[in-house]
Amino acid sequence: MAVPKQIFKWGILGSGGICNDFSLALRSVPQSSTVAVATSNSIERAQVFADRHGIPQAYNNYDALLENKEVDIVYIGTLNSSHRDLVIKSLKAGKHVLCEKPLGVNAREVQEMIDCARTEKRFLMEAMWTRFFPSMVDVRQRLRDGAIGEVTQVDADFGVNIPRSVKRLWSAECGGGGLLDLGVYPLYFASMCYSLDKVTPPTAVHANGKLAETGVDVWTSLNLDYSQKSKESKEETDFRHALVNCTMAVRTPESWVVSGTKGNIRVHNGHISDKHTMTVWGSKREMKPEVVDRHFRTELPQLSAPPTPLSYVYPGSEGLCFEAQAVQKALEAGQLECEEMSLDESLVLAKVMDEARRQMGVKFPQDA
Ligand SMILES: NC(=O)c1ccc[n+]([C@@H]2O[C@H](COP(=O)([O-])OP(=O)(O)OC[C@H]3O[C@@H](n4cnc5c(N)ncnc54)[C@H](OP(=O)(O)O)[C@@H]3O)[C@@H](O)[C@H]2O)c1
Repeated sequence: MAVPKQIFKWGILGSGGICNDFSLALRSVPQSSTVAVATSNSIERAQVFADRHGIPQAYNNYDALLENKEVDIVYIGTLNSSHRDLVIKSLKAGKHVLCEKPLGVNAREVQEMIDCARTEKRFLMEAMWTRFFPSMVDVRQRLRDGAIGEVTQVDADFGVNIPRSVKRLWSAECGGGGLLDLGVYPLYFASMCYSLDKVTPPTAVHANGKLAETGVDVWTSLNLDYSQKSKESKEETDFRHALVNCTMAVRTPESWVVSGTKGNIRVHNGHISDKHTMTVWGSKREMKPEVVDRHFRTELPQLSAPPTPLSYVYPGSEGLCFEAQAVQKALEAGQLECEEMSLDESLVLAKVMDEARRQMGVKFPQDA
């Protein structure tokens, strides 16, 4: 007789834009069920959300949801500045946790969350959702296979014109600013390209940026040195770096390029990519190399029966299902971390962002 498959029961903390999108995307994830939602302080908002998404239980505070024994995994989609406390509370309540990016507003917070997850023996992952898109999985595989040789440079950007009305992004108290909200995407992409076998921190971080009058960064430019002193392949790997740009002032093309010694891969629409192009140079690095151009396209899933009037708030959110699937797969295999987005890497990158903020003079109240 076939063993019935485990159903993972999710609880949603928050009722804002990304919680809407995640709840909607979860509908297309097999073996998942959303059993509860909580807002910070309003049963009306929680009930409206629950009714919209067909969630049986609604709460007007996060603690009440954490007491619900039915909930296996908590998805945290609240303000950046609230992640640390909610992650720790959830882990201590015995829940597995998927928490929105950035995991914490600084490395100290991230370290505290990691320590707690390891003590409580519960799953924790930063919701770097686009790392699980089929397109990104394919890019990783090609890099691992050496399709473009040794990775030597990464160029990646993410810019969106963020109106002042989106207060959380312009507020230092909320852990806002371009770097933590938008810059994480190209930064994590660069890190992924250099961390295929093991998490590799940059050896130097140089940051430039422009601050708003509220003290958060409007734009940030990061120059990250990933040089390795490897004797065997000195020529190929000694000079490795990444250029990462983000801005809250303008939409940018998100055309991400990873260049290796044999060619490059261009990821179109960066953080929500469904297409990438690989160009392979001829046998040597001649001035006019033979070029092999190959295009790959992957599809985002469609909900089998999208119920009107539900719709996604953010572009590409259908793809949130891939990270949810990855979390469930890891849990099914008895793992407390996802290999593709490890806690060590979250910590390394939180330290990079701390250093970048230090150089730019961006201070959060949580840094004190
Ligand atoms: N993966 C992605 O593509 C993506 C996209 C956008 C944002 N995000 C991340 O998701 C998180 C939320 O972003 P969002 O765009 O969904 O924000 P949002 O729509 O403004 O929702 C923020 C949520 O935080 C909760 N909250 C708790 N205390 C609050 C306070 N004092 N003031 C305002 N809100 C408070 C709100 O509460 P209730 O619980 O009361 O409803 C609300 O549901 C952020 O960490 C952001 O970086 C991820």
